[in-house]
Amino acid sequence: MKKRVLSGIRATGRLHLGNYLGAVRGMLALQADPEYETFYMVADLHSINVSYDSKTFQNDVRKVVLDYLSAGLDPKKSTLFIQSHVPEHIELAYLFSTAVSVARMNHLPTYKEKVKRYPKNVNMALLYYPVLMASDILIYKANAVPVGDDQQPHLEIAREIARKMNSKYDLDFPEPEQFKTKGHHVPSLLGGGKMSKSIKGSFINLSDDLVTIKKKLAAVPTDSGKGKAVPKDGGVINLLLLVELFQGKAKRKEYERRYLKDGIQYKELKEELAKSIFTKLEPIQVYRAKLEKKPEYIEKVLKKGAVRAREAAKKTLREVKQAMGLL
Ligand code: ADP
Ligand code: TRP
Repeated sequence: MKKRVLSGIRATGRLHLGNYLGAVRGMLALQADPEYETFYMVADLHSINVSYDSKTFQNDVRKVVLDYLSAGLDPKKSTLFIQSHVPEHIELAYLFSTAVSVARMNHLPTYKEKVKRYPKNVNMALLYYPVLMASDILIYKANAVPVGDDQQPHLEIAREIARKMNSKYDLDFPEPEQFKTKGHHVPSLLGGGKMSKSIKGSFINLSDDLVTIKKKLAAVPTDSGKGKAVPKDGGVINLLLLVELFQGKAKRKEYERRYLKDGIQYKELKEELAKSIFTKLEPIQVYRAKLEKKPEYIEKVLKKGAVRAREAAKKTLREVKQAMGLL
């Protein structure tokens, strides 16, 4: 039997380079590998635990679908669907919630961060987030999960739930692992932390044009361009990482040598980097514009995806219910 893959992205805005390099690139690599059966979804249920606009939400979800397809996700090779179209995820999540303690959820760093950021909106869904995510993955018995480093704590919960369910009910869930890409941690343009759509000024969107990319890179904080050692954090190292990801390792090494000798001209580096990024994004943007004109095609893809995903999901849910004495 083929190994399974599941991943998802929330519908909380247009995709940025972090999502693309950390998650989507991994999804594409596994989609191209005949050893894997790939399931990719828009995590709409994971998007409604913070404040959102219910009137534009359907549109927001479709935007992620368009981003996925234009980035190269192929519905002939992958099952593409919307999380809430497979309600079995929620049912399994409830069954899984019997296998984790409230204290464990309370202490998760990702949860604590949300509590800190939105102290007035600490709802149950936020606490439940990793349980639903474990269900998303394990309902397909997926071994590989292409996501960025920030999702590691959630994968750990999924592994704990898998172990617990297996030992308690004699089930056969695999312990899912992160499928790491070269861009598993894309840094923020602001100099510290990760590129994230919730941090203004930190990201480049897949839809950005060359002028916008240049403007955003121009704002990355740098230094004099010269020194005894290449900095270990801050804007300079982030720029060098982006150089490596878009222009190759050799180019990065060349800049590092220059830093220690004659010095880097950041204006030139940023101009060249902007062009390399845009060269990668342009075909995605062109394809997206074409797809935008085919809403019926998108709906057809999603309908087919949901049918295929449900078939697999129902099978696991039945197994679990049987093992738990519910059938
Ligand atoms: P954001 O933090 O921008 O809201 P999401 O939480 O929706 O992004 O993440 C969607 C996917 O993209 C996840 O797999 C996540 O790990 C990945 N991802 C997000 N930001 C980055 C980043 N800066 N570097 C690598 N991967 C990332
Ligand atoms: N938590 C992920 C994020 O914030 C989205 C997500 C939901 C997901 N369910 C998933 C990712 C299952 C991988 C597998 O980006």
